[in-house]
Amino acid sequence: MISEKDYIAKLTEARDYLKERIRILPELGVILGSGLGAFAELVQDKQVIPYKDIPHFPTSTVEGHAGQLVFGKVEGRKVVVMQGRFHFYEGYTMHEVTFPIRVMQVLGVTGIIVTNAAGGINPDFHPGDLILIKDHLNMMGDNPLRGANLSSLGPRFPDLSDAYHRDWRKRALVIAADLGISPQEGVYAAMSGPNYESPAEIRFLRSSGADMVGMSTVPEVIVANHGGMQVLGISCVTNMAAGILDQSLSHQEVMDTAGRIEKQFVQFVQALVKAL
Ligand code: HPA
Repeated sequence: MISEKDYIAKLTEARDYLKERIRILPELGVILGSGLGAFAELVQDKQVIPYKDIPHFPTSTVEGHAGQLVFGKVEGRKVVVMQGRFHFYEGYTMHEVTFPIRVMQVLGVTGIIVTNAAGGINPDFHPGDLILIKDHLNMMGDNPLRGANLSSLGPRFPDLSDAYHRDWRKRALVIAADLGISPQEGVYAAMSGPNYESPAEIRFLRSSGADMVGMSTVPEVIVANHGGMQVLGISCVTNMAAGILDQSLSHQEVMDTAGRIEKQFVQFVQALVKAL
């Protein structure tokens, strides 16, 4: 387990590397999920920094994930966009998965918009729906805050009562309705993956209050809350979860739906960046 001193030293190196290079210091972070990378094209005064160039950054391995930080402005807001994220199922530790969030924190980011692809558990949801995350179930069997508390970054026992900022959600629901997106909210269950869930697991999650399921987001959201950031989370329902429909699941279906909805999703996040 990494010591607080070593972790802070690595974080400081990554921050200093970026600070020496970027012209626009970000206030808002945007984390793009599977197949939703087109948002990065909206960034103006853009500076792209590949993960592989940033000291101590892990590198991304999954198809459909570019692996770079994009700095600049969207709707006049100073942003950093994570194009490609690190998943626990890829074998990264929770510290690695959440390292970029810590980098954002020490760069001065105070809020993040997190997006993902998810399986729909709630039968009222349909593939292609964009759902605001109102709460989560951490079913990953690990926690990014386990170990010595990084006391300079946040408290030992952070409160998650408002992990997905209530006021931001309220405003996002109005923005969704304005864009003709049916404003819906749900509870996101995070599984470690990489297999899609079994039908029995989905029945279990459904009876536990989950509306959608995925393999990301929750570690980042825990760390962002620990670091005192405000969070808005959006899931793109790319498929119905295992056993909800009488059909099998595939990564292709997930990518196809994400691709089909990308334009609307990008528009939504753009409107959110402007308004939040
Ligand atoms: N399960 C887990 N993760 C996912 C799914 C799913 O059904 N769809 C997209 N990501």
